[in-house]
Amino acid sequence: MKTKLVIFGITGDLSTRKLLPALAQIISTGDFDDLSVIGVSRRDIDVYELLSSKLGDTSLESRIAGFSMDTSNLDDYKRLKDFINLGDEEQLLLYLSVPPGASSGIVELLGQAGLNMPEAKLLLEKPFGVDVESARQMIDHVGKYYDESQVYRIDHYLAKEMTQNIIAFRGGNALFDHVWNSSAIERIEVVALEEIGIEGRAQFYEQTGALRDVLQGHLMQLLALVLMDVPLGLDWDDAAKMRLDALNSVALADPSRAVRGQYEGYRDEVSNDTSETETFASVNLTSNASQWQGVPILLASGKGMDKKATEVRVHFRKSHESQTNCLIFNIQPHEGIEIELYTKRPGYDHELETQTLSFMYPAEEKLPDAYEQVIVDAIRSRKSLFASSEEVLRAWEILTPVQGYWNSHNDDLKLYKKGSSLDTLIA
Ligand code: BG6
Repeated sequence: MKTKLVIFGITGDLSTRKLLPALAQIISTGDFDDLSVIGVSRRDIDVYELLSSKLGDTSLESRIAGFSMDTSNLDDYKRLKDFINLGDEEQLLLYLSVPPGASSGIVELLGQAGLNMPEAKLLLEKPFGVDVESARQMIDHVGKYYDESQVYRIDHYLAKEMTQNIIAFRGGNALFDHVWNSSAIERIEVVALEEIGIEGRAQFYEQTGALRDVLQGHLMQLLALVLMDVPLGLDWDDAAKMRLDALNSVALADPSRAVRGQYEGYRDEVSNDTSETETFASVNLTSNASQWQGVPILLASGKGMDKKATEVRVHFRKSHESQTNCLIFNIQPHEGIEIELYTKRPGYDHELETQTLSFMYPAEEKLPDAYEQVIVDAIRSRKSLFASSEEVLRAWEILTPVQGYWNSHNDDLKLYKKGSSLDTLIA
């Protein structure tokens, strides 16, 4: 089907770092000859200059038309509608790659201008609100103009190749299917650590913090993939529903077991001497689902840490003191799956040593970027890798007690040195 993709914020950071390279890659496959792009920005843009300066690749030039408009002016949306001129048998993708506060006003005017026809799909970037109430308002507001089936809420972690592999691995290997429960699994850790700091995003980060930026969305989604049922012959179209079921069983987070930290130097970066915004957050969770009762779950995310590592670690119970079996999904940076095992140390004595069985995608094999998958799935109306409104709300609900506690206390923020390890922060 012929697709017209409108990107609001075509000159912005996300667009130039992720969307345009993803589009160049998708189009280079030759499978999307019916895709054209309209790049919206406030000022006139020179598409060739944008592509050559930001991408160093101008192959997309013939596919992109620039359109300048004031996104607070309804008449400009009517002009945009005429410019798009959607024909029969064509679909429209409206991608809002704009700062968090801007999307609600744009949705309102898109709706008022009639750019919510049944052939339109709305692609929204996180954060989806800042707490359960604001998320609900946002969802209701979008729902005024767009049916839930037209809304594609992007959580790019869901679209990462290794994240999808969690379901594939679980469904494809009976060996693990049999032991995927509390009888065999002792605890679960889902962590996303970054060495980098906030990279100049002071304004965004001050209003966001680690809990909202990464933990509420990305890590909750990863957790849902670990906890959810993977029935025989899982239909990927049911994945969002299965993830939601898993999140519905997760108990509300206990604020007394949550940790927040801030790396030293952060306050200078944001020019706010009294900032309480956390650059590290962790919560301990449990699930009430019968197969997960009693299994502690740790979610942790931080910037300014000792390493870049996004991992899901599944620790198996020991039946002898010396055993330590841990299954690790390395989401990034070295995508793969590892299992730590004990084996006999070669020699005359009966000593054990740990070994790792590992599968890593070869470094030279370039995996599709999450944003390629996002765009392709939206074009093809596949919603399994997008967060439903109910998932978003449930993830906020689980964290509500922690947010409430943090809003009313300010004596528990741990200052940490850049380069700290997870263990020192949660000790
Ligand atoms: C984004 C956050 O959603 O995810 C960033 O806003 C974070 O703060 C980024 O750095 C991490 O994404 P990735 O794909 O590099 O792990």
